[in-house]
Amino acid sequence: MPSRLSLLVSTAVVLGVALAATSSDPMARADGAEVAPLPEHLADTGLFLPGSTTVRPENLAFSPQYPLWSDGASKRRWLSIPPGSFIDATRPDAWEFPRGTRLWKEFAYGTRKVETRFIERRADGSWRFAAYVWNEDGTDAVLAPSVGVAALRVESAPANRYVIPAEADCRSCHEGAAVPVLGASALQLSPDRDSLAPHADQVDVGVDLRTLVARGWLRNLPRQLLDQPPRIAASSPVERAALGYLHANCGHCHNAGGAPVPVGLVLAQEAASPAASTERVLHSMLGVASRFRSRAAPEATQIVLPRHADASVLAVRMRSRNPFVQMPPLGTRVADAESLALIEQWIDLALQSPKETTQ
Ligand code: HEC
Ligand code: HEC
Repeated sequence: MPSRLSLLVSTAVVLGVALAATSSDPMARADGAEVAPLPEHLADTGLFLPGSTTVRPENLAFSPQYPLWSDGASKRRWLSIPPGSFIDATRPDAWEFPRGTRLWKEFAYGTRKVETRFIERRADGSWRFAAYVWNEDGTDAVLAPSVGVAALRVESAPANRYVIPAEADCRSCHEGAAVPVLGASALQLSPDRDSLAPHADQVDVGVDLRTLVARGWLRNLPRQLLDQPPRIAASSPVERAALGYLHANCGHCHNAGGAPVPVGLVLAQEAASPAASTERVLHSMLGVASRFRSRAAPEATQIVLPRHADASVLAVRMRSRNPFVQMPPLGTRVADAESLALIEQWIDLALQSPKETTQ
């Protein structure tokens, strides 16, 4: 019969194994098999031609029509899927990416590359997230610790400081949506691009829905979304751009698809049902009481009070960079003045009151 001590020891061993498999060891698979660890150097993730920092031609550049605000950093993005595979768009707003899919996003201030983020779908269907930090001359980028880097000195960044998010932050944003890929979606890659979208690439930098389908990379997208490319339903161009901005910058946390956010606000759009999406978004904010109270703006009691941006919690929280108040809560230390002006213009001038919209 085992002694009490050996029972305790074996319990600890079992617990230790369980912990390694679930949380602390990102390389361990649920079935116990090992997968290759994340490469130490960005060059070994397959982004570049060997021995260079030239992107391989088979990695396709893409540019979401509504980008995420990241304190003014400029970005480039690429997508790769294994040869012979395809993205299944049967569910137009929850694309099924093949195992082996890889995506990269490079952040730069002017000519200074700072960081390249990497997402990969593994053989077991799970996703992994990593950040690579560039050296000053832009010749090599190395894997950042999974806790991120709190203060990287970058001369051209706001206040000369740059923050690399922790892996947990990547997951807070990317795993709140139906699919962890946020910028390559039916709405974001629509050829019917919104010319008022803040901070968007205005030139054609890469693929869209039609070119992805033509290449055979995207299949089963409902025909009607090719004939009539996705477009947000809005009563004015300003409203379209405002809703697009909120979708891209907030919709991955504020959606009706089960993101673990304890408020009823919905800011995500669905390409397959534009009118219903806009209705749901407006319904969740117009004249809706907020639990939040701001000392700086005590008159703000509703999420959105039509014609009064100053008294709308949504705008108050976008303007703030107090860490307890700011929205989004992650990934930015500088408020997005240009987009805030757009949202305020929408609330002040373009929005009708709830009574008017329901009539
Ligand atoms: C504040 C939320 C947020 C955080 C934190 C965040 N991301 Fe993202 N990420 C986004 C959004 C939104 C997009 C799509 C819009 C864009 O690229 O401008 C995106 C795009 C990407 C892309 C291009 C593929 C795609 O999903 O469109 C990669 C790669 C990526 N992120 C990796 C990461 C990694 C790795 C981390 C952590 C080190 C991270 N992200 C942290 C919100 C976030
Ligand atoms: C990383 C996830 C995340 C992102 C991205 C995000 N939010 Fe939030 N938001 C939350 C959480 C969690 C709460 C609830 C806790 C709180 O009020 O701080 C919240 C609360 C709110 C509230 C208060 C709702 C109420 O009922 O009082 C508003 C308004 C809001 N967010 C707006 C936004 C806007 C606008 C954006 C984009 C510019 C955004 N959020 C992006 C996570 C997020």
